[in-house]
Amino acid sequence: MSSLTESKAWIVLKNHYHQIENISIRNAFKEDPNRHNKFSLQLNDILFDYSKNRITDETMPLLFELAKQVGLEAKIKSMFAGEIINTTEHRAVLHTALRNRSNRPIYVNGLDVMPDVNRVLAKMRVFCASVRSGEWKGYTGKAITDIVSIGIGGSGLGPRMVSTALAPYGSDSLKIHYVSNIDEADIMEKLKHLAPDRTLFIIASKTFTTQETMMNAFAAKNWLLESIKDPKAIARHFVAVSTNTESVAKFGIDTDNMFEFWDWVGGRYSLWSSVGLSIALKIGMDNFEELLSGAHEVDEHFRTTSFEKNIPVIMALLGVWYNNFFDCQSHAVLPYDESLRYFPDYLQQGDMESNGKSVDMQGQNVDYSTGPIIWGRAGTNGQHAFFQLIHQGTKLIPCDFMAAANSHYYLPEHHKVLISNFFAQPEALINGLTREEVKQQLTPGEQEDSVLVASKVFAGNRPSNTFLLKKLTPKILGSLLALYEHKIFVQGVIWNINSFDQMGVELGKVLAKTILSELESGEPIESHDCSTNALISSYKQMRDC
Ligand code: F6P
Repeated sequence: MSSLTESKAWIVLKNHYHQIENISIRNAFKEDPNRHNKFSLQLNDILFDYSKNRITDETMPLLFELAKQVGLEAKIKSMFAGEIINTTEHRAVLHTALRNRSNRPIYVNGLDVMPDVNRVLAKMRVFCASVRSGEWKGYTGKAITDIVSIGIGGSGLGPRMVSTALAPYGSDSLKIHYVSNIDEADIMEKLKHLAPDRTLFIIASKTFTTQETMMNAFAAKNWLLESIKDPKAIARHFVAVSTNTESVAKFGIDTDNMFEFWDWVGGRYSLWSSVGLSIALKIGMDNFEELLSGAHEVDEHFRTTSFEKNIPVIMALLGVWYNNFFDCQSHAVLPYDESLRYFPDYLQQGDMESNGKSVDMQGQNVDYSTGPIIWGRAGTNGQHAFFQLIHQGTKLIPCDFMAAANSHYYLPEHHKVLISNFFAQPEALINGLTREEVKQQLTPGEQEDSVLVASKVFAGNRPSNTFLLKKLTPKILGSLLALYEHKIFVQGVIWNINSFDQMGVELGKVLAKTILSELESGEPIESHDCSTNALISSYKQMRDC
C-alpha cells in the first residue's frame, strides 16, 4: 500500500464516500435552497458552479485536508518559484512566467527569465504588425494572405484551439491553417488551395526534431521552391518557433526569423510562448497579450487564494473524488460553444500526457488510479452522439459544461436555444426521471408496456460542473485555460506523479523507426509478434499488387 492510500485524509475520505456515495443531488437541492451559493465561485467574468456534485457540507473540507496533507501549498510555491519540479528531465516548470504580466522577477538557476520573455514578446509584436499590415512581403513582393503553422502536440493543438476560439477577433485578410499529421492528406489538402508567393510557414517545434513536423516542414519547403525556384525565398516564407537554434539554422531558416522559447516551457503548456505566434498573427498582439493577462489573473488567484475559494484546487479535488473514490474512468468536457470545438482535443493532451502516469515521484508503481480519460465535444452536437450513454449508460461520467452568456454572432435565437440546452442537460443529469414521472407522461396503452416504462426511466444523480463565461474574449479564454492547467498540476501533486514529462510517447516512436526500414525490405519480416509480421506482409502485398 502506498502512503497516499494509507494516509489519514484518504482513509477519512474513503469512509465518508461509503456514507454518502448515493446521496441524491436532487434531494440535496430541495433540502438546501442555498446550495448554489455555497458551492459556486465567481472569478472576474467566470462563474464556476460545482453544486451539482455528489458532495455534502462535509466533503469539501475533507478534500481540502487531503490537499494540505500532500503539501500542496508548498508545491504551488515551488512551481511559481522556478524550482526543478520536473525531476526526470531536471527542468523548472514556468509557463506562468510567460504570462507574468506583473513582471515580478522569476529566477531559473539564479537568472531572471522575465527580460527574455519580454524580449520575445516584443519581437513577436513587431513581426505580427508587419505581416498583418502587409508590410512584410513574400519573395516576389506580394503581401502574405495565408499562414501555415506546422507543429504537432503542444506545438499544434493549443494554437489551433485558441485561434479557432478567438476567430471573431481575427483578421479576415489573413487565414491561418494548421498542419500536424504525418498523413500527407493533412498538408496536401491545405497546400492545394494556397499561392506559394503569398504563404508564410511557421515551423513550430520545441525540439525541432519531431518526425511529423520536420517531414511536413521539408514538404512545405519543396512546395515553395518548386514554384519560386530561388532558395533565398525561404527567408521571406519561413519562420521558426523553437528552443533549438542550431537545427533551425540547419533547416535553412534565418535565425533572425526564429522566435525562441525555453526548456522550462513544457510543450503542452507552450501556447503562451512564441508557440502562440500563429494566434498572435490571427488576432493581433494586443489580443494575444489579453489572453496572457487572463491567464495571469488565474495564476494570481491560484497562487494566493485559500483552498476553500481556489477554483483550480476545487476542480482538481472533485476530479480526485470521482476518479479515486467513485472509480470513474473518464471525464467529459462539453463546451456549449462551437468556437471551443477543439478544446476537448487540446485538453486531452494537457491532461492525459501530464497525468497518464503509473509511477510516482519516487519511482514506485502507484496503487491508485491517476489521470482520467478526457473526452468531449461541443454542444449541442454531443447531445446527438453520446449523451445517451452519459444519461442512461452504466458508467458514471462527471462532466464539465461551459458556455458564454454573450455571443459574438448575430442570430440571437440560436444563442438562446444553445443556452437553454446548456442549462437543461446538467439539470436532467441530476434530476433524472422516476418511474412515476415516466408513467405520468405515457398514454394509457403505453403504461402497460413495462419495458417501455423501464427504458424511459433516468436514474439521474450524475454530477457536473458548470462554467458560465460572460463572453469568449481573449482574456476570459486565457483564464479558462489556466484554470485547467492548474487543476492538472494539483491532481499531479495529489497523485505524487511528475505531470511534466511524457516518457510514454517514446516507445511507439522507436518501434515505428524499425518498422519504417522494414517496409522497404524485400526479405520476409520475422522480428515481431506473428500478428505484426503478418500485417506488414499483407500491407506489402496490397501495396505492391
Ligand atoms: O510526442 C509528444 C511530444 O513530445 C509532446 O509532448 C509535444 O508537445 C509534441 O511531441 C511536439 O514536440 P515538439 O514541439 O518538440 O515538436
